[in-house]
Amino acid sequence: MYPLRRNRRLRQNSAIRRLVRETALTPDDFLVPLFVTEGKQLKEEIASMPGYYRYSLDLLEKEVRELYKTGLRAVLLFVKVPDTLKDNRGTEAFNPDGLMQRAVRTVKNAVPGMLVMTDVAMDPYSSYGHDGIVENGRILNDASVDVLVEMSLSHARAGADFVAPSDMMDGRILAIREAFEEEGFTDTGIMSYSAKYASAFYGPFRDALDSAPVDQKGIPKDKKTYQMDYGNRIEALRETDLDIDEGADIVMVKPGLCYLDIVRDIKNEFDIPLAVYQVSGEYAMIKAASEKGWIDHDAVVLEQLTAIKRAGADIIASYFARDAVRLLQE
Ligand code: PBG
Repeated sequence: MYPLRRNRRLRQNSAIRRLVRETALTPDDFLVPLFVTEGKQLKEEIASMPGYYRYSLDLLEKEVRELYKTGLRAVLLFVKVPDTLKDNRGTEAFNPDGLMQRAVRTVKNAVPGMLVMTDVAMDPYSSYGHDGIVENGRILNDASVDVLVEMSLSHARAGADFVAPSDMMDGRILAIREAFEEEGFTDTGIMSYSAKYASAFYGPFRDALDSAPVDQKGIPKDKKTYQMDYGNRIEALRETDLDIDEGADIVMVKPGLCYLDIVRDIKNEFDIPLAVYQVSGEYAMIKAASEKGWIDHDAVVLEQLTAIKRAGADIIASYFARDAVRLLQE
């Protein structure tokens, strides 16, 4: 008695495996997060993200040119704002000459073909590191949405192709979309962080931007009153549904690896481009374990990114985008 079907036949060498492979990464899958800081000739390594940097505008320009040469075509910008410019209302966020606005203009001038997306959230500008205005220990929703709208408009005026609201306030996609329509930014897109979980994996990112949330006494706080509870799955569908109705062009799940069930659910349910953010803590874990020699860095990077795409991601925001493109060429 022999098996009628021998599945190993399709695995016997790399040529046949390549032929029948269902999911393959390409440079077109990636969105590259970039951290920007004030100053000149600065390329500062982020302590909890080895091999990842904050760039001053002059070096940002150089970095973006290089990324473009490797075949990458989309960046997602984040800025580190000096403490002296932070306040509870995130006023600096819509300064027409703020760091983000200058960063957008810098990238667009240097490499017009690079798609520029901007993070829209108050946390880097907030004295409390929160994504909303804090009042009596609570995060105000609608007043914060007003700030997000101003911020989005100022990014659009600076030339951003897409804004990416990552704050999880209710109703912000509709408010931003309406403001864009009114001001004639009909072609400026919105990539909404639709299912963004209150995750412990954002730690290194908050180091990168010095944006860890605290209360009015400076005691560390979490973001559980606005970001989603990681026990919830159906709620992610509700959030996504709402953002699509409100006018999002692309929706997102964040973090990546622990949330691939959510990615698949959303992919099955909605017909809209879906992004997944492999976040800073996921990056840090791979770096730390591979530095110890416990895992093979490149192999794990490719396996995780492929798994994210296999789960249903059309777009992957990843600190490994450059590595992935290099590995795909090898
Ligand atoms: C800001 C924002 C965060 C991330 C992206 N946008 C941090 C947060 O919500 O606290 C995290 C990205 C990462 O960890 O790589 N709202």
